[in-house]
Amino acid sequence: MDKTQAKRRIEALREEINAHNRHYYLENSPIISDYEFDLLLRELIELEELYPEFKSADSPTAKVGSDLEKENAPFAQYPHLHPMLSLANTYSIEELSDFDSRVKKGTDSPFTYNCELKFDGTGINLLYRGGILVRALTRGDGTVGDDVTRNIKTIKSIPVQLKDGSGYPEEFEIRGEVYMPFASFDKLNIQRELDEEPLFANPRNAAAGSLKMLSSKAVAERGLDCVLYHLIAPGYEDSLHSKSLEDARNWGLPVSDFSRKCSDIEEVVNYIQEWDTRRHGLPFPTDGVVVKVDQYRVQTQLGFTAKTPKWAVAYKFKPEEALTKIESIDYQVGRTGAVTPVANLSPVLLSGTTVKRATLHNADQMDLLDIRVGDSVYVEKGGEIIPKITRVELSKRPAGSVPEEFPKTCPACGTPLVRDPEQSKFFCPNSDFCPPQTEGKILHFSSRKAMDINIGEVAVHQLCEREYVKELQDLYNLDDLQLLSLDKWKGKSVENFRASLEKSKTVPFHRVLYALGIRNVGETTAKTLASHFKNIDALASASKEALVEVEDVGETLADSILNWFSEPRHAKTVEELKKAGLQFSAEEKAPVSDTLKGMTIMITGNYSIPRETMKYYIEAHSGKVGSSVTASTTYLVAGAKAGSSKLEKARKLGIPVISEEEFYRIAAPDENREDKNAEPTLF
Ligand code: IVH
Repeated sequence: MDKTQAKRRIEALREEINAHNRHYYLENSPIISDYEFDLLLRELIELEELYPEFKSADSPTAKVGSDLEKENAPFAQYPHLHPMLSLANTYSIEELSDFDSRVKKGTDSPFTYNCELKFDGTGINLLYRGGILVRALTRGDGTVGDDVTRNIKTIKSIPVQLKDGSGYPEEFEIRGEVYMPFASFDKLNIQRELDEEPLFANPRNAAAGSLKMLSSKAVAERGLDCVLYHLIAPGYEDSLHSKSLEDARNWGLPVSDFSRKCSDIEEVVNYIQEWDTRRHGLPFPTDGVVVKVDQYRVQTQLGFTAKTPKWAVAYKFKPEEALTKIESIDYQVGRTGAVTPVANLSPVLLSGTTVKRATLHNADQMDLLDIRVGDSVYVEKGGEIIPKITRVELSKRPAGSVPEEFPKTCPACGTPLVRDPEQSKFFCPNSDFCPPQTEGKILHFSSRKAMDINIGEVAVHQLCEREYVKELQDLYNLDDLQLLSLDKWKGKSVENFRASLEKSKTVPFHRVLYALGIRNVGETTAKTLASHFKNIDALASASKEALVEVEDVGETLADSILNWFSEPRHAKTVEELKKAGLQFSAEEKAPVSDTLKGMTIMITGNYSIPRETMKYYIEAHSGKVGSSVTASTTYLVAGAKAGSSKLEKARKLGIPVISEEEFYRIAAPDENREDKNAEPTLF
C-alpha cells in the first residue's frame, strides 16, 4: 500500500467507524459485532501508526486515548464562560414545597417544572465551537476548571463532532455529569482488590478520580459515561429548558431519557416517589432528583443566590441502611500478605441486593466501631455499592459478648503477623510460603493487565494445592497430565492456556514487571521503572539512591524493590522466566522522524498539550529536551505564561524564541499541508 492508498483507506475507515459508533452509542442499534468493530479499529490504529502524518485529533482512534505512557503535567486551567453553580438541597417533601412557594412568590408568570434524575458523578462543562468539542473543563472552583479534554474524548457517548446540519449554535457551553456505571465500578474495584490497591468508596469518587488521571489511555479503560443537563446558548430566552435538552439530543449529545415535564409540585412529588424506588434498577448511580423551572424567562426573573440558582433545587434520596447481625469475622490474606477482616452477616436486603458480607477494613476501624461477633449492626451502601458497617446498635448487644481480638498469627499459615507502621494493616511476612499469598501472586501474574494468561481462580487453587505450582515460573513447565487433572479442564482449555502462555512472551517489559507482584509496584510505577531502567538487570542492581532519584519513587517503594531483589528465590524466578522467553527489557521506541536530530529544545510556559507530551514529541522527532537555556540550546519554545527569565536569557544569548505553532512546523514539516495555519496533528 502506498501513501496515497493508505490515506484513502484511513479516511474510509474513519468514516465507517464513526458511523458504527453512531449506531452503537446514539441509536443503540449496532449493525456489526464488537469483534468486527474491533477489527476495523485495529486496522485504523495500525495504519495511523505506519503513517503518523495522517493522524488526526478527531480520528475515532483519539477516542481510546493517547498512547503516552507517562504524562504527569498538571492540567491547564481555563475559566468557564459562565460560572458553574451548585444546587440547594432539600431532604423532605416539606422543604420541596417551601421551594415551590418561593418560586411562586418570585414570579407572576405561569410556569412548569422539569424533573430530572440527579446523576451521582462529577460535573463537567463542554465547550463546542462550530460543532466541534474544543474544551472540557471540570467544575474546579466554579469559576476556573481543569482542562480534561483529552480524557473526556475517551468517553464514547460524547461526540467530538456534532451531527451535521442539525442546527446547533456556533458556540455554546453544555454542562453535565461524568459518571461511572455500576458495571464499570464493580470491574474496577475487583481489579483493584486483586492488585491490593485501595478501593474506591463509591462510583462518584471513582468517576472524579478517573477524570483527573494523567494517562488518557487509562481513563479509556475506566468505562466512564456522561449525561448532559444544562445548555447555555443564545436563542433560548423565550424557550424551555426541556426543549434545549431535546435540541441537544438531536445534535448528537447524550441527554437523559428519564426526565419528565411536571405541571405542578404534586406531579413533581409523584416523580420523586416513583424514582426513589425505580432508581434501584438503574445501571448507574443517582442520589436524588433535580427539579428545575422549565421556562427560561421565569428562571431569569428568579435569578440566583451567591452559589445556587433560585429556579432549581435538588431533592436528595435517603441512603438506605439495614440492621443485621454479625455472625462471624473472617481474616483474609491477600497476595501481599495484608490481612483484611471481613464480617459475615445474616443476609439482609439492601438497595435491591442481598448483603452477606461487609469489609471491616483494618484493626483500627474495628476498634473504632468496637465491633463484636453477635452484634447487631447497621449496614449502608457507600455510594450504593460496597456495603459498610456504620455503627453498632448497642441496645441489642448480647450479654457476655467479648471484644474482637485481631489475630496475632496468620490464619492461613500460622506465622506471627507484623504491623506495617505506615498503614493500619497487619501483614503475614511469610510471603513465599503462605498459601493464599502464593495463589494471589499466581492470579495476579496471570491477570489481564499483567501476563493475561487463561487460567481461573479454581484452577490456580488446585495447581497450588497439589504443589504443581509453587513459583511463577512453574506455570510455564506444567505438563498435559497435570493440566488435565484440573476440574473441568479438557483439551480445549489446555490449548487455550498454552496459547496464552505463548502470547505472554510478547507482553512488554513494564507489564512483566507489574506481573512479578513486587509490593507497591502497581501498573503506573511499573511503567515508570521500565522506562527509566530499561531492563530488569539495571533495576535489580540499582542502589537506593538511584531508585529514589526516579520521579515518583519514594523511600517505601525503593525499600520494597530492594527487598524483593535481595531474595535469591526471586532472582531465580527472574532467571527462569527469562529462559521461558518473557520480555525483560523495554523496547526502544523507534523515532517518528529525525527532523530535530542534533537539536536541543528548551520549553517554557503552557502549551495546548501537556508539557510531558511536548517532551515526548521532541524526543519522538529525535530532539533533546534542554534543562536550561544555554549557548547550545537550539530553540526556546515559548508557550503561554512563558518564564520571563528564560526569555531574557535566550534573548541575551541570541537563541531563537519560537511559538508552539512554529515548533510544530519545524518538528513535522508537511509540504502538503492544505492549511498551513491548521492545528498540528500530533498523535
Ligand atoms: S443542574 C445551575 N441537573 O448535582 C444548575 N445538576 O448537587 C446546575 N447534578 O452541580 C446543575 N444531576 O454536578 C443539574 N440533572 C441534573 C444533575 C445535576 C446531577 C449534579 C451537578 C450539580 C450537583 C449539585
